[in-house]
Amino acid sequence: MERSHIKQEINITESLMNRINELISHYPEGKQKSALLPVLHEVQDAHDNWLSIELQNKVAEILQIQNIEVYEVVTFYTMFNQRPIGKFMFEFCQTSPCCQNGVEDLMDYTCYKLGVKVGEPTADMMFEVRGVECLGACGYAPMMQLGDFYQEHLTKEKIDQLVSDCKEGKITLHDK
Ligand code: FES
Repeated sequence: MERSHIKQEINITESLMNRINELISHYPEGKQKSALLPVLHEVQDAHDNWLSIELQNKVAEILQIQNIEVYEVVTFYTMFNQRPIGKFMFEFCQTSPCCQNGVEDLMDYTCYKLGVKVGEPTADMMFEVRGVECLGACGYAPMMQLGDFYQEHLTKEKIDQLVSDCKEGKITLHDK
């Protein structure tokens, strides 16, 4: 995912800092770098689901590591976003079992329905479609992730239902 030049307000609140310190405390003294992944998740969740370069630098400062060590992780994992993304991100698995079960047609159908290309949010920032690697639910192919939840055995009818449920506020994105 390309990096955004949009300015992001950085807001490390007291409660977020407490949570970060709690995560760091799970690791031995001096090994705070080991908390990088969970810390990035917490910080991203608290910042509209994306991490600007300034925010990544802030995480590096908090963990007392090099900025590049944060960039390496953020650019490797698709769950970290380097720009604002659509609120409802349809993450279709694009690995072989899902492809063999028609996931590419479903992605095309979803993009057509939403009027977007893969990797482009809708103008109202409500929806986005992207492809990701195997999500470990191959037996339920074709599948995708929406927020913290898997949507399995997808069909065009299920996509239609998901899109309207999102629009009507019937979809829960997080499990906490
Ligand atoms: S191939 Fe799609 S979940 Fe594994």
